[in-house]
Amino acid sequence: MQKINWARQYMPVLGAIRERFLEERPLAGCRIGMALHVEAKTANLAATLAAGGAEVAITGCNPLSTQDDVARALNGIEGVTCYAKRGAGAEEYYDAIDKVLDSRPEIVIDDGMDLIFRLHTRRTELIDSVIGGCEETTTGVHRLRAMARENQLRFPVIAVNDTPMKRFFDNVHGTGESSLTAIMVTTNVLVAGKCVVVAGYGFCGRGLARKLHGLGARVVVTEVDARRALEAYMDGYQVMPMDEAAARGEIFITTTGNTGVISARHFSRMRNGAILANAGHFNVEIDIRWLEEHADRVTRRDGIDSYQVAGKTIHVLAEGRLVNLAIPKGMGHPIEVMDLSFALQALCARYIRSHGRGMEPGVHAVPEFIDEDVARAKLAALDISIDTLTPGQDAYLRSWTEGT
Ligand code: NAI
Repeated sequence: MQKINWARQYMPVLGAIRERFLEERPLAGCRIGMALHVEAKTANLAATLAAGGAEVAITGCNPLSTQDDVARALNGIEGVTCYAKRGAGAEEYYDAIDKVLDSRPEIVIDDGMDLIFRLHTRRTELIDSVIGGCEETTTGVHRLRAMARENQLRFPVIAVNDTPMKRFFDNVHGTGESSLTAIMVTTNVLVAGKCVVVAGYGFCGRGLARKLHGLGARVVVTEVDARRALEAYMDGYQVMPMDEAAARGEIFITTTGNTGVISARHFSRMRNGAILANAGHFNVEIDIRWLEEHADRVTRRDGIDSYQVAGKTIHVLAEGRLVNLAIPKGMGHPIEVMDLSFALQALCARYIRSHGRGMEPGVHAVPEFIDEDVARAKLAALDISIDTLTPGQDAYLRSWTEGT
């Protein structure tokens, strides 16, 4: 509980929502099922939803990211039941998701889409009672869009990940800071002067590259999208294919949301002592299966697996799972960042409760007013004021008749 309270003091936006929820009880009697990383910030989201009157059932969205002490504390919060356990095997992981689904949720909050996938494949009898859902991360939104394209998604889901107040802060700054913290605290190696390869120059990748540059690393970016590759180049980084980067990098960080980004042919080209970490959602970006089947695992300790490949030793952090949460000391994103993401989640859950029945099945954007409300609340918490458009400026921006 101390961890949860520690986080709470740096979550003013979610805190204000909690106060409002306590008064207005907008989720009274609503059953909410969640699969998110079970740690202190998430606990504050669950408590906020419960303060709004919801009955919350929660489990993890990754077998290695649960903090067991937080999971236990969550069970002590009125209106919240937690089923997550650190180190759960695949069967236990899905059993816990099933337990969440047994609560017959009307709203589902997912991170990576495993919960919604389970609902649509193994627990279809429950779909009709779901009003709608929210998805937290890029990979989950990709999966949801693929489902919607094939007309398989049976209820509306808000893509919380895609809204500016989420990805400009959570993906960029959150992943950037917390992944580097995780790598540094696990390995204790110096970043300054190192050649660090960042795979993917999306929201997470550009945050990582920027922070690495700030620490004095020589950053190499790999991409498959020409525009993003060019952006990385003009932001001052070297751009090259992974085949070439493999031989140069001393640290590798994948953040593509894709599969097989670092694979057998890359491992064999790597320098002795290369360190590999994944910051993308699933453990498929680095081909761990190939390493386990074909390389010699020489040691496993404290979140570092060391393998012998082609006469050299390479080190993989957190079994290739998202490094900022899955290393033994992983705490995930900094608290202030999750204050914004989870404020969005809480407000979107309230929106779905009141408007979800009128929304078409499919992927929906976060309503603009919610995104703006969160931004304004954060500015207010920081005691920062900004300018307001004058009526003349407002009219100018709306007109098409004024030119030179
Ligand atoms: P994004 O879509 O903005 O960026 C991904 C980039 O990777 C794109 O530019 C894409 O062109 C590139 N890419 C795809 N395949 C590639 C390949 N084979 N080689 C090189 N580049 C490739 O996505 P975003 O928001 O940056 O998210 C990336 C991943 O990180 C997702 O899996 C997301 O769910 C996850 N994520 C992880 C967080 C964490 O806490 N570690 C937090 C937020 C997101």
